Amino acid sequence: MTSTDNQPADAPILVIFGITGDLSRRKLLPALYHIFSQELLPANTKIIGVSRRPLDVNDLLGNVELCVLEKDNVCDPEGIRRLKDALESFQLDPGNQADFIRLKDRLTELDGANGDQREHLFYMSIPPEAYTPIVEQLGKNGLNDRRSRVLLEKPFGYDSASAQALITLVDTYFSEEQVYRIDHYLAKETAQNLLTFRLYNPIFSSLWNAEHIERVEIRATETIGIEGRAEFYEKTGALRDLVQSHLLQLLAITLMDLPADMSSGEIHRTKQYFLEQLLPADPNLAVRGQYDGYKQEVQNEASTTESYARVHLKHGAERWQGVDFVLDTGKGMAEKLTEITVYFKTTHAHSSNNLTFNIQPNEGITLDLIVKAPGIENQTTHTTLDFDYQKLYTDTQHIDAYERVLMDAVRADQSLFSSDAEVLATWRVLQPILDKWSGNDDDLRRYAVGSAAGTITDTSVHVN
Ligand code: BG6
Repeated sequence: MTSTDNQPADAPILVIFGITGDLSRRKLLPALYHIFSQELLPANTKIIGVSRRPLDVNDLLGNVELCVLEKDNVCDPEGIRRLKDALESFQLDPGNQADFIRLKDRLTELDGANGDQREHLFYMSIPPEAYTPIVEQLGKNGLNDRRSRVLLEKPFGYDSASAQALITLVDTYFSEEQVYRIDHYLAKETAQNLLTFRLYNPIFSSLWNAEHIERVEIRATETIGIEGRAEFYEKTGALRDLVQSHLLQLLAITLMDLPADMSSGEIHRTKQYFLEQLLPADPNLAVRGQYDGYKQEVQNEASTTESYARVHLKHGAERWQGVDFVLDTGKGMAEKLTEITVYFKTTHAHSSNNLTFNIQPNEGITLDLIVKAPGIENQTTHTTLDFDYQKLYTDTQHIDAYERVLMDAVRADQSLFSSDAEVLATWRVLQPILDKWSGNDDDLRRYAVGSAAGTITDTSVHVN
């Protein structure tokens, strides 16, 4: 009898393709460490780390410790030990069917006696062109039965046509209920709070329309550059990397109709309805930029890839007639910041009521107000109502977005994942910009690393 024969039926097996990649090292494995450290999954949960080359799990674990120490300042040895017990490496060539048969055998072995209850989660921590043959092999070798789920990392294609092709491929072998398209921004604490805030604070519902809202702006800036991911980023760029996925998803949950309940099906139905009514973007209003030194970093002097993008969108529903939606993102900027600001219409020069959802780094919600300044004169001053997570929840354990993503996939909750129809709707909206920007650098602005958000739209910034 092997040590795995007596596993309870409910302990899942997570198979990670691309275990040595950047995402696994920086996000997934540290998230799994936290999950194991807090014993959020059954003790005998298994993680199979798949790589093309032979791999020693101790190397991976050493890196996890470094990552965790860097972020948390402390690394629980017991958590690392549990992760080590759960983790095993598996060498596989995605083009070799025999390797998938071996993988299936290993899963059957781990399933044990009551095995057909044990769930198999296949996590594609690799680009879409790399997961295409893997999805095919999983399907052809029977690793797509009803207890199998496939988790896909973005980008979900590179444009409308490639997204459709990927969806068709995945659909050939897996039903939509088995597919989890990850958008880790939806799993960030304040992003999740958005719907709760809207549902349970009805004073805002009557204001949530074009009569009261002038503009909604979503900004996601990063100080980091592309961090050695030249191959990935050259094919992607800021529009595909952040706007198509994270920012459009955030826009949808900020403005979509309130779902009748918080079930996954209802959330997806309302989100899809909102996204499908967004009008195709006007490419002449879109701005793109590239930080100084980018071309040298990717060793491509001809690169036209944007590291900054700003997009203006309009919505077809009467409720949002004329409201400007602005999505703004860039790497190599002055600060790491993600925030959603709802600008309410002003009634006179001094009025201002902007509502801001601070997604990161300082999570919270603020409302700008004008009040009377203290004193004998009737003067006004600016102030804010401030809900600050850090101040309010000092003892609460911070849950990283990837911990939430992994836990939700294990408990089969699709609420925070993107559906195929949502993905197609977002590509359709951005396709005119992709077409205009393709293969030229006509209006690509250059900006200095450390530029403040907003300056790239400034005409003083050099246009190539
Ligand atoms: C990823 C992008 O989806 O999100 C990266 O591919 C980006 O380019 C990252 O750096 C940012 O995530 P976070 O959680 O650090 O804001």
